[in-house]
Amino acid sequence: MIVCSCTEISDRDIEGALLEILGAPDAPIPTPGIVYRHLAKRMNCCSCAPLAVETIYNKVDALEKKGLISPSLSASTRSKLLEFTSRRATPRIAQRNSESQTQASGDCVRKIA
Ligand code: FES
Repeated sequence: MIVCSCTEISDRDIEGALLEILGAPDAPIPTPGIVYRHLAKRMNCCSCAPLAVETIYNKVDALEKKGLISPSLSASTRSKLLEFTSRRATPRIAQRNSESQTQASGDCVRKIA
């Protein structure tokens, strides 16, 4: 399944990237930005961001069920990703007060109206 049509990233690409990212000693939170960079891609329109996050969650679960990552790594990854996405979903008050400021979301930058 294609997750990002701009960069032609599939769910299989994401799964492979997650295996490599989560196998690193100090694995970063596998946000869409981290995963896309790992695949040497960069978000363009960002419309795939929600699907990318959902796919990352599902793939972390699938990798755990396949025994490719430990349950503790899976749980901590999902917890960190949830915390990260919650923080990103809450705009800062200072940003809301300025029409010209932008909000970074992964590799995507969008105007706040
Ligand atoms: S659909 Fe992924 S960046 Fe456009």
